[in-house]
Amino acid sequence: MAKKTAMRTIALAASKGGVGKSTLTAALAVRAALDGSRVAIVDQDPQLSLSTWWDRRGGPDNPQLFEDVDSSSDAVGEIASHGYDWLFIDTPPSQIDRMEAVIACCDFVLIPTRVGIMDIEAVRITEELCQQHRKPFAFVLNMVSPGAAATSSAAGFLRSGRRLLLEPHVSYRHSHGNAMFNGKTASEVKDATARSEIEDLWTSVQKAVSRASKVAS
Ligand SMILES: Nc1ncnc2c1ncn2[C@@H]1O[C@H](COP(=O)(O)OP(=O)(O)O)[C@@H](O)[C@H]1O
Ligand SMILES: [Mg+2]
Repeated sequence: MAKKTAMRTIALAASKGGVGKSTLTAALAVRAALDGSRVAIVDQDPQLSLSTWWDRRGGPDNPQLFEDVDSSSDAVGEIASHGYDWLFIDTPPSQIDRMEAVIACCDFVLIPTRVGIMDIEAVRITEELCQQHRKPFAFVLNMVSPGAAATSSAAGFLRSGRRLLLEPHVSYRHSHGNAMFNGKTASEVKDATARSEIEDLWTSVQKAVSRASKVAS
């Protein structure tokens, strides 16, 4: 069994495609690495969006992609034993077994969703898996139009169900998609709005992970 370290493992999971799992995995992993933290990433989606983004980035060592690893506490422990501070795992939307395996072995699940009620209902499976596995989780609203009534409806709906909704919401910014062509993230292509949102989201994620680990200990 690999040595246990303080590495924290964050899964990006949602039982709906196109909600920004891979985009936010890349954005948060790149942001986390800026602190001098050592960051690992794992792509459990057979579509390999995150892996091909990492290849286009030139295969850097921070964040470092780990390929051909399964989702198990041993596999996570093995990555931790190399001294990483953070591990981000991207997941597929529809292969529920794979998603569940990741949820079971991570410390925290971030569930991106768009603002429609159908979008939120479509990720209920992910929420239920987190509850079954007693994993702390939080939602983040992605591709939001600032000021739109639907955004406050979605936030109100999630919070009325006593769900943790991280802030800020992530706005719809073309730079998120554009940056990916070059293996970058929106924060790296002079989009100040995107950069500040990802910056603040990373702060919120760290606080939520740290609160969750205190509750668990
Ligand atoms: N905040 C955002 N603003 C604009 N486009 C976004 C944003 N987040 C994701 N996208 C785009 O939405 C599409 C789906 O994102 P992706 O990360 O592949 O979702 P998932 O991994 O959940 O399937 C991609 O084209 C991506 O560039
Ligand atoms: Mg994806």
